[in-house]
Amino acid sequence: MTAVLPGVPESVFTYGAPQVKFGSGASEEIGFDLSQYGVRRVLVVTDPGVAATGHPQRVADQMAQFGIEAQVWDGAHVEPTDVSLQEAIDAARASGPWDAYVAVGGGSAIDTAKAINLLTTNPGELMDYINVPVGGGKAPVNPLRPLVAVPTTTGTGSESTTICVMDVLSLKVKTGISHTRLRPTLAVIDPDLTRTQPAGVTAASGMDILCHALESYTARWYTTNSKKQAQQRVPYCGSNPISDMWSEKAMALLAGSFRTAVKNGEDLQARSDMALAATFAGMGFGNAGVHIPHANAYPIAGQVKDFHPKDYPSHEPMVPHGMSVSLTAPEAFRFTFDSNPERHVRAAELLAPGAARPSDLAEFLPGVLADLLRDIDIPNGIGAVGFLEGDVPQLVEGTMKQQRLLATCPKDVTEDDIARIFTRSLQLW
Ligand SMILES: NC(=O)c1ccc[n+]([C@@H]2O[C@H](COP(=O)([O-])OP(=O)(O)OC[C@H]3O[C@@H](n4cnc5c(N)ncnc54)[C@H](O)[C@@H]3O)[C@@H](O)[C@H]2O)c1
Ligand SMILES: [Zn+2]
Repeated sequence: MTAVLPGVPESVFTYGAPQVKFGSGASEEIGFDLSQYGVRRVLVVTDPGVAATGHPQRVADQMAQFGIEAQVWDGAHVEPTDVSLQEAIDAARASGPWDAYVAVGGGSAIDTAKAINLLTTNPGELMDYINVPVGGGKAPVNPLRPLVAVPTTTGTGSESTTICVMDVLSLKVKTGISHTRLRPTLAVIDPDLTRTQPAGVTAASGMDILCHALESYTARWYTTNSKKQAQQRVPYCGSNPISDMWSEKAMALLAGSFRTAVKNGEDLQARSDMALAATFAGMGFGNAGVHIPHANAYPIAGQVKDFHPKDYPSHEPMVPHGMSVSLTAPEAFRFTFDSNPERHVRAAELLAPGAARPSDLAEFLPGVLADLLRDIDIPNGIGAVGFLEGDVPQLVEGTMKQQRLLATCPKDVTEDDIARIFTRSLQLW
């Protein structure tokens, strides 16, 4: 059932990652780290919720002893839009020039800093660089400035990836910018900063880790793509021996820490393992790619009606990224099972060590996922976040626009397949 093999199979895969500093107290060394780049003015990018924890200001305060002037800008929008990113770029241009950027926050703050960095070092406007067909898909011509990414959620892995995700408001579509130059120069992962994450954020962003690991582990194998020329290579190349290692290890770490981190945020071992899992999964999916659950997440988030999740800003409706990714995951992996049964079973065993295998192995991974979703209080399917059966055609239309992601799916996928996945995800248990 795997997708048809190409005439000349790919024989090359690639792997990229930032420099990493990990561990309790790592965020106290950023002043020194930046001084090594000879910078004098640094902008610290964050959002209001993270700013309220005091972490960004503490990071900024270390700079003075190294002769660096640092300012905190806390205007990042939770789940960035083209409009919010433009505001961020305008603010940075007005207060610049800046020699380096530090992002302190979740994927929202880190992706905002990536956009600021791109548009304060390169000509043109945001739309020129957004993926085609929405934007011009232009590549940066100039190098970017040093960007230090300091994640405060345990989720996106944006500290190690080459992408910046945004909602384009006028088109109601989520898309992004993807280029190797967007990858942060240094990822500083300090689990102590993640302790203040509320349970609802820990649950949703943790499901993002899990889906990154699972989708890249089950992505089509790199040799099943057609051979590319050197100039055609993109960061995502399909599952491969290196991304597999990161994905497997991320799943094993999640098995031992996810439920604990949601139920007891003060458990430092669980927080540390979640932070490691997020980074490992980022290193896996940032090179292999993701497929159906992420493709479905874009319309789920973009077409939200009136859902206000616990522990997120309440002034506008939203389905947070990790939640939107998780809601169709059990059905998506029921669909992809026959492309590689062994991998699906292995993933279920990594996520739920010691769990009994059901007689129908296709049900193993969906069952493990549904149990977890229920335990960590994720809504019971897309129906529980406000979608009805009549919304399915429009959701399918949104998913089919994500061809870049669907190309990573381990088997060919049709509109009818996606419609079935959405319909069966209206209620998961
Ligand atoms: N670039 C990538 O590789 C990539 C990958 C996946 C997702 N994303 C994007 O990242 C965004 C989601 O990021 P996220 O899930 O990390 O969450 P987030 O950055 O949107 O933050 C979620 C909420 O948690 C709060 N928060 C974050 N850390 C906190 C802390 N330590 N203490 C208290 N409150 C805290 C924030 O203020 C915010 O209200 C989405 O826009 C998504 O599309 C990017
Ligand atoms: Zn994601």
